[in-house]
Amino acid sequence: MLILGIDGGGTKTEAVLLDEKARILNYRRGEACNVATLSEDAIAKVICSLLKDLSKVDIAVLGLAGAGRKKHLEKATRAVSRVLEAKQLIIMPDAEIALYSSTLFKPGILIIAGTGSIAYALDSSGNTYRCGGLGYLLDDEGSGYWIGLRVLQTVAKMLDSREKPSLLLEKTLEFLNVSTLDELVELTYSRLTVSDIASLAKIALELFEEDVYCRRIIGEACRELAQLAKCVAIKAGISSSTIFCQGGLFDSSTFTKLTELMLRKVFKKKIELKKPLFKPVVGALLFAWKKLGWDLDSLLVSLKNYSFLLNE
Ligand SMILES: Nc1ncnc2c1ncn2[C@@H]1O[C@H](COP(=O)(O)OP(=O)(O)OP(=O)(O)O)[C@@H](O)[C@H]1O
Ligand SMILES: [Mg+2]
Repeated sequence: MLILGIDGGGTKTEAVLLDEKARILNYRRGEACNVATLSEDAIAKVICSLLKDLSKVDIAVLGLAGAGRKKHLEKATRAVSRVLEAKQLIIMPDAEIALYSSTLFKPGILIIAGTGSIAYALDSSGNTYRCGGLGYLLDDEGSGYWIGLRVLQTVAKMLDSREKPSLLLEKTLEFLNVSTLDELVELTYSRLTVSDIASLAKIALELFEEDVYCRRIIGEACRELAQLAKCVAIKAGISSSTIFCQGGLFDSSTFTKLTELMLRKVFKKKIELKKPLFKPVVGALLFAWKKLGWDLDSLLVSLKNYSFLLNE
C-alpha cells in the first residue's frame, strides 16, 4: 500500500511516501506549487520532479497553495492526474493540511505566515473556516511576501531620497547584488519572483532590533496576522486560548513573540501561540490515513521518529 502526502506552497513543495505500516519510504523537496499562478504544465512538472519514477499510488492527498478556488482546483486535478495514477486522489488548500497537522482534527485555530498568509479554523463538527489567503495581489497581509515587498518599497524610497537611508538599505542592496535605484527597478520588474520577494523578510527580521523601519514593518505584519486570527475565530465561533502557528516566518522567535503579543491585544485576553509538533505535510498523511479508516494514534507514534517531519 502506497500513501502519498504533498504540501505545495509559494516557495517550496514537500512530498512524503508512506506505507501501511506507517513507515516513511521517501521524502523529497521541490519547487513552489501555487496552483493559482502556475500553468497546468508547470504544476505537472513540479509534481513529476517529486515523484521521479513513481507513477502509481493507492491514495494521494495534496495540499496545494491556491487550491481553495474551484477553477484552480480543477486545473490542479488535471495536472496531477497527468503524472500520477491514484486510486484515490484528494486535493485541498495547503492551509487545510497545515490545520490538520496542527490541531490533529480537534477544534482549533491556525495562523500561517510563509510566502503567503491565512488563518484557518476547525470547529467541533469538522467544519473549516478561513480568513485571508487571497494571494499576493489582493491580500497575504503579514506574510513573507508582504514583508518583503515593504522592504523593497522602503529601500526604493531611500534611494529616491524620500526616506532617510538606514542599515536596511545597505543589507538589502547587498542581498540583491545591486547598488543603484536604476538597478533595483530593473531587477524588480525583470526577475524577482513572489518567492524572491518573500525571502527579503529575513533581512527585516535580522535587523528588527537596530532598524526602525524593520521594527515598523514587522510590527504591522504581526498585527495583521492577529487580526486574521480574530476574524476566523469569530467565523468559527471558537474561543480557545491556544492558537497554532505554521510557516517560515515563525522560525523566528522575534516574530512569534511579537505575534503572540498582538494576539493578546486583539483578543483582549491571554493567548498562547504554539508551534505544532508536525509540519504541514503530515496533515496530508493524517488525512489519507483517516480516509482509509485506520487508527491515527499508531501513525502519530511512528511519524514522531522522523525529524524532517517535525517543526524545529
Ligand atoms: N529562519 C527564518 N526566519 C524568518 N523567516 C523565514 C525563515 N525562513 C524562511 N522564512 C520566511 O518564510 C518564507 C517561506 O515560508 P515557507 O517555508 O512556509 O514557504 P511555503 O510553504 O512555500 O509558503 P506558503 O505555504 O505560504 O505558500 C520565506 O520566504 C521567508 O519569508
Ligand atoms: Mg507552506
